[in-house]
Amino acid sequence: MAQSQSGVLLEHCRFGIFIEAKVGTDLERIRSGCKDFCAALAELQQKFPDAALGGVISFGSDLWKQLSGGKGAGELKSFTPLGNGLAPATQRDLLVHILSQRHDINFTLAQAALKAFGDAITVEEETHGFRWTEERDLSGFVDGTENPQGDARPEVAAIPADDAEDAGGSYVLVQRYVHDLNIWNQMPVKAQENAMGRTKFDNQELPSDKRQPTSHLGRVDLKEEGKGLKILRQSLPYGTASGEHGLLFIAYCARLHNIEQQLLSMFGDMDGKTDQLLRFSKPVTGSYYFAPSLQRLMAL
Ligand code: HEM
Ligand code: MG
Repeated sequence: MAQSQSGVLLEHCRFGIFIEAKVGTDLERIRSGCKDFCAALAELQQKFPDAALGGVISFGSDLWKQLSGGKGAGELKSFTPLGNGLAPATQRDLLVHILSQRHDINFTLAQAALKAFGDAITVEEETHGFRWTEERDLSGFVDGTENPQGDARPEVAAIPADDAEDAGGSYVLVQRYVHDLNIWNQMPVKAQENAMGRTKFDNQELPSDKRQPTSHLGRVDLKEEGKGLKILRQSLPYGTASGEHGLLFIAYCARLHNIEQQLLSMFGDMDGKTDQLLRFSKPVTGSYYFAPSLQRLMAL
């Protein structure tokens, strides 16, 4: 049976490395690089079981078409700007997502990834994420509470077995957000809670009659024909205390549709209303990718 790549469904990782790269014409090196990456990953998993190491390689639409001969991942497309440019598009070809309990092991695997792909890639973004206190985002709000748990994780994030071609694959969104914590920390906690749609310290959902439609939850907690549009988030805070910092947002889903609807809603392209969290945080990157199952990755 087709399995998700090892990082997709992992829970409560403490560190993450995110590498986005452009790919030239050496597709054979990409194919062999994927195999070499998986071998390095398996070796590190065996040597350091306490790290609970996971890795995922995903492809942008153009590269995926070339590697797959245009088969599968029917929903995949390049990211385009949203909200009149509020959300920029910086689509790249290859995403390497590494996550575990240990930054040192992640770093070793990142080095192995660079060696595996060599000159066939040009890295354009590399971000090192960390889990902050109580799994809070740097805004001080707990992030990930409503993420699917247990069996719901593969149900939400992995394409089901009845799709022979894509089973075990996932669509991916990556957006790096830069926070302005000066603006945020000048807002009273009550205003922050209204912006998020949850309470800050004890992390309770605001009752729906008190939840503002432009709160973050008001924007992304969407239903379609009575069913919640779920995604699996693996985002982490990143950055330096004195310099740039924010949230490296990453989500996996069996359907690109769910992710896209939430984005359209956040950036005003659904009903003209924008997410209040954009008052203090701005995306500076945006890309869609497809993470094939492990079996498909090895057979590309
Ligand atoms: C929920 C923060 C971007 C989708 C949340 C929560 C926080 C949060 C604090 C509430 C706790 C939880 O359930 O995790 C942020 C920050 C972002 C960001 C700081 C960027 C600066 C996004 C984006 C999307 C998204 C870009 C979708 C494309 C969701 C979803 C939920 C959620 C689906 C759960 C809603 C529910 O069912 O209650 N986010 N988020 N978030 N966020 Fe975000
Ligand atoms: Mg909900």
